[in-house]
Amino acid sequence: MNTKILQNNSENIKLVASTIKKGGIAAFFTETVYGLGANALNTDAIKKIYQIKGRPSDNPLIIHLDCVSKIKKYAHVTDIAKKVIDNFMPGAVTIVLNKKDIIPLEATGGLDSVAIRVVKSSLAKELIYECGMPICAPSANTSTRPSPTQAQHVLDDLNGKIEYILDGGSCEIGLESSVLDCRGERVVLLRHGGVGIEEIEKIAGKVAEYKFDGGAALSPGQKYKHYSPKAKIVYFEHGDNKKLEELKKSSINHKVVMGLDADDYARQLFSIFRDADKDGIDVIICELAIEKGIGKAINNRIKKAAYGN
Ligand code: TXA
Ligand code: MG
Repeated sequence: MNTKILQNNSENIKLVASTIKKGGIAAFFTETVYGLGANALNTDAIKKIYQIKGRPSDNPLIIHLDCVSKIKKYAHVTDIAKKVIDNFMPGAVTIVLNKKDIIPLEATGGLDSVAIRVVKSSLAKELIYECGMPICAPSANTSTRPSPTQAQHVLDDLNGKIEYILDGGSCEIGLESSVLDCRGERVVLLRHGGVGIEEIEKIAGKVAEYKFDGGAALSPGQKYKHYSPKAKIVYFEHGDNKKLEELKKSSINHKVVMGLDADDYARQLFSIFRDADKDGIDVIICELAIEKGIGKAINNRIKKAAYGN
């Protein structure tokens, strides 16, 4: 199969939608990272996603919608979820709710819950609208690789495995959505992401942070190695130049990543990881961001990429 990158126009959106409607798989731009989409109501199409990505079948997928009013068709909406929906959706937030029967267990890794995200980007919105169905989509990388923030990144990982990549340019946010379990009375954060926890707390009260302790995972994605380039990742606390000097001595063939504004850092992080591999860099030395807002998601991704080096 020859994988084609398609520019953003209505003809191409229709072409990709018709592929997905027929049970096919295609990658598409969203404002966080590129997704690998399939009809969320078609179990054969869902299985193809797991195959293509090499993703463990117990790691559930996010269901993407074009509009918030459709959430109730697929999930039981709680009071706390309503607050999150009203304030942060559409956008870089995914909510976990108890699923309705229409969502197949194949999409949720066998769980009774479902993760739902409403996209903000007009390209993704138009595509989902054109499909006329919910679209399940993981990030469009090979499992364990950094998420793709440009169409070329998707091509680098999945060339020959999918027909189309719907190109929307570079993703504005560059990190995945924040995943919030909204089934209880309080929000539980399952994954740091595009929207900072402080913002969520202003609206929804104290947020509990879920920490994977090696047992049964509340969010199965947490237990797998993630976001890893081939280069080794090491990191130092924000502003700790003494540690930076020490780390520089550990390898001649290194690249230092520092001094970026948090939003720029988020936007560029996965691209930096991928470029370092293309340049044959051995060690990427990353300065951690200040631990607030999107900085928490940046630090989470750096530490996960460094884990198991
Ligand atoms: O920004 C994003 O979230 C991107 C774009 C494409 O939407 N998607 C993305 O999907 O990052 P993925 O599959 O790479 O990560 C989904 C995360 C995983 O950690 C998974 O375990 C968690 O969401 N998740 C999905 N369904 C869940 C559920 N029912 N309960 C708990 N966690 C769930
Ligand atoms: Mg992913």
